[in-house]
Amino acid sequence: MTSTQAQRGATSDTTAIRAVIQVVQLHKRYGDFTAVDHIDLEVGDDEIFGILGPNGAGKTTTLEMIEGLREPDGGMIEVNGIDAIREPNRVKHLIGVQLQTTSLFDHLTVRELIALFAALYDADTSSERIDQLLALVSLEEKSDARANQLSGGQQQRLSIALALVNDPEIVFLDEPTTGLDPQARRNLWDVISGLRAAGKTIVLTTHYMEEAEVLCDRVAIMDTGRIIACDTPLRLIQSLEQEATIRARVARGLDLDQFRELPGVIDAEIAEDQLSIRTHDVQTSLTALLALATEIDLRLDNLATTNANLEDVFLNLTGRSLRE
Ligand SMILES: Nc1ncnc2c1ncn2[C@@H]1O[C@H](COP(=O)(O)OP(=O)(O)O)[C@@H](O)[C@H]1O
Ligand SMILES: [Mg+2]
Repeated sequence: MTSTQAQRGATSDTTAIRAVIQVVQLHKRYGDFTAVDHIDLEVGDDEIFGILGPNGAGKTTTLEMIEGLREPDGGMIEVNGIDAIREPNRVKHLIGVQLQTTSLFDHLTVRELIALFAALYDADTSSERIDQLLALVSLEEKSDARANQLSGGQQQRLSIALALVNDPEIVFLDEPTTGLDPQARRNLWDVISGLRAAGKTIVLTTHYMEEAEVLCDRVAIMDTGRIIACDTPLRLIQSLEQEATIRARVARGLDLDQFRELPGVIDAEIAEDQLSIRTHDVQTSLTALLALATEIDLRLDNLATTNANLEDVFLNLTGRSLRE
């Protein structure tokens, strides 16, 4: 990063992040439908910034407007101080965009594909550089495999390598782990963390709250075209003042008020036969719950507690579950 960019980043910001992406009042409609509704965003240097939200929230539209692939209806986007709406071509040199690997190139090997993309970008095509890219995405062993012989997770890693051929400062990943099994997802998280360690800024979208929580330095929670919260995962969760959710299977037709009145309890609900009690003091609430269960001869099956997480943050802000 150059000193001019550093100066530019030193803008007014309470969290003192150096902004490489600044988005102000960005909006986009499809006909009468508002997909992105006047959002503000600031992405700092060398951070993994996540946009978390359910399907249809407006994540891809937002990402593609910043990438210069969709035209906004209004607002401002600056990437490294460049007006991305007026000068998308200058921005394209700074960014890497993960594309879905296309079957068009299935007959090429991993190494050949990376070399081809590097050549298209007029970037370094030396075998040292290709080895370096292969190492960044942990595909050294697959360098001579054809793209159509790769697993889903390996294909995702290949598409990240292709996004890196021009050595971009900022990498955009749209739902990079959707459809992957848990093991492949964790491997990809390691790859993405490695990019941050290599000095890249990463902007990714996801609808997996665990991914946002584990991987992202900061998370913007998006719903129906709006950013409804933006902070570190920890601060978002702490803002809830909810310690945990206590869950158990119970007989139906119970009076909820008796659970809501227990000490420490924020709220209680029963869906099907699943009792959920949100508490800001799990030990106190659980002790009282067990005493109540003994008193009214209530059986609590599969009793478990889960620490508050981004799912709870979303639920608290929208009244809906992220997974719905
Ligand atoms: N090209 C388009 N034309 C019309 N509606 C669209 C188009 N692209 C997206 N939408 C709608 O805009 C909303 C946001 O879509 P999108 O940005 O893809 O959300 P996400 O990536 O969070 O799932 C959705 O309701 C979607 O159906
Ligand atoms: Mg999307």
